[in-house]
Amino acid sequence: MCGIVGFIGHGNVQDVLMNGLEKLEYRGYDSAGIYLAEGGQTGHLFKEVGRIANLKETVDFDLPAVVGIGHTRWATHGMATKANAHPHQSMNQRYSLVHNGVIENYQALKTEYLKNIQLNSETDTEIVVALIEWFANNESLSTKDAFKRTLEVIEGSYALGLIDKENPEVLYAAKNKSPLLIGLGQDFNVIVSDAMATIDVTNEYLEIKDKELITLTKDAVTIEKFTGEVVQRESYIAELDASDLEKGTYPFYMLKEIDEQPTVLRRLIQSYQDEQGQAVFEADLLKAVSAADRIYIIACGTSYNAGWIGRSLLEKIAHIPTEVHLASEFAYELPLLSQQPLFIFLTQSGETADSRQALVKVNELGLPSLTITNVKGSTLSREASYTLLLHAGPEIAVASTKAYTAQITVMALLADAIRASKGIEASFNMERELSLVASVMESILAEKAAIQTWVEDSLMETRNAFYIGRTLDYYVSMEAALKLKEISYIQTESFAAGELKHGTIALIEEGTPVIALITEEIVGAHTRGNVEEVRARGANAIVISMQEVARVDDQFVIPTVTTALAPLVMVVVTQLLAYYTALGRGLDVDKPRNLAKSVTVE
Ligand code: M6R
Repeated sequence: MCGIVGFIGHGNVQDVLMNGLEKLEYRGYDSAGIYLAEGGQTGHLFKEVGRIANLKETVDFDLPAVVGIGHTRWATHGMATKANAHPHQSMNQRYSLVHNGVIENYQALKTEYLKNIQLNSETDTEIVVALIEWFANNESLSTKDAFKRTLEVIEGSYALGLIDKENPEVLYAAKNKSPLLIGLGQDFNVIVSDAMATIDVTNEYLEIKDKELITLTKDAVTIEKFTGEVVQRESYIAELDASDLEKGTYPFYMLKEIDEQPTVLRRLIQSYQDEQGQAVFEADLLKAVSAADRIYIIACGTSYNAGWIGRSLLEKIAHIPTEVHLASEFAYELPLLSQQPLFIFLTQSGETADSRQALVKVNELGLPSLTITNVKGSTLSREASYTLLLHAGPEIAVASTKAYTAQITVMALLADAIRASKGIEASFNMERELSLVASVMESILAEKAAIQTWVEDSLMETRNAFYIGRTLDYYVSMEAALKLKEISYIQTESFAAGELKHGTIALIEEGTPVIALITEEIVGAHTRGNVEEVRARGANAIVISMQEVARVDDQFVIPTVTTALAPLVMVVVTQLLAYYTALGRGLDVDKPRNLAKSVTVE
């Protein structure tokens, strides 16, 4: 989703902004822009629709800029046009502003203050920058006070970077709900919505809290509350490896990230188990989870799909009743909660606005929460009672893969630790089975060529497809369908196999691909019955099965792992299937249309 980079001080401002915006490209955007201010009250605005490469061609890298702000925009208010792209400027072009988030009361503010101001875009952001100038002029306020005054009247989510071209020695910033960090350097400072974008210029960062006002010069940063009270805060070192951001020899990040899954899984075993194979989780966390009479898993998209596997693991292994909820629904219609609930927020990015909104609600109720995330220090991690990290390394492709398997693995390890702490007998050795899973993943990854051929024969021309399965296979089919639709644009739906005959079977036509996942003996026979039903109606039925329950004509057979962990291997086949379909269709696998990596608006 939208990204921000701002820079003040010595260095080539244009280089830092453009490199930063390129690093934010993976998050999804449809236009981009930068604003540069020179010492002598001169400013330069560059904006383009489409890729950063388009913008790069128009930017003058030789301008002697001392401060700059850059932005990638994912359209919310108004189409992806040059006029709607950020930075936005006030009427007299004194102020330039970049914004992530949504200003909810922008229409009301426009009516109240800006009736006579000419606006050039359809965005909520332009209202903010126009207001700053309005307060500066009409209430004779300094830039800082006009900014503060504006922050007091705007409602919604925002991360803001502001330049006053009459005083280019200062860069202003503020945030509410949307992520923004300060990066500290020698003779320069930066603002950035994701440390990854500026990790090659500094690894030292300062957190900004909601409703603080930040002023940056090239050698100082001041954080103030709106009351004027100055806040002292320790910086931290971001543990990001710039090389993790490289694709290496891979054509797309998604393939690299699919391939990384066995390594991530082994890393998680090491991170959460000691040398004796005993789980190592914070004692307080284990106590809090064990004490829960019900767990509520809250998440969106792929993380929500992982939540269903987590539910099964927590119920079967740790014996704790567990529910799964869509974050975007949860905060607005709370279920009747149990006496001692615990909430698990599953979120790769740790910044998803829908999940954050649900966490705000949980915190208002004073209830315990655990965020399982890939991003240390992310908003959901900071605001939950406990955090567990996915240790998956940066996930750049919009389509989530390694975060999904890492989320399931962390929940499996957690469930096993709770089991042990409650003295429940183990039905299998978690560490040994997870190690086996990592090896089976590798054997699937070695079959890429076969999967690609199979995709070319079965999926390339279709407009729609179905995934079916029962129980755990059904939950995996939810993720498999999401993966295929988001990157190949084939309309793909997942169904509990038994439900097909209750309506959906009407959609089956000659040649419709129906991919059945079969790992469980107990339900496998029934799913096979459903496969026959669709075949009898002309479907091109494809079976992916586990060796133990495989039949001779199944299209893809994978080595057997323990049923509870089967989703971890089953999903890999479906990830590759989605990847090769998108590749074969000539699509941009890593940056599918309309999507953003980190969805920071509700
Ligand atoms: O960062 P999160 O895990 O909270 O993100 C949730 C979804 O936006 C995300 O999983 C999305 O569905 C992915 N594009 C799926 O590949």
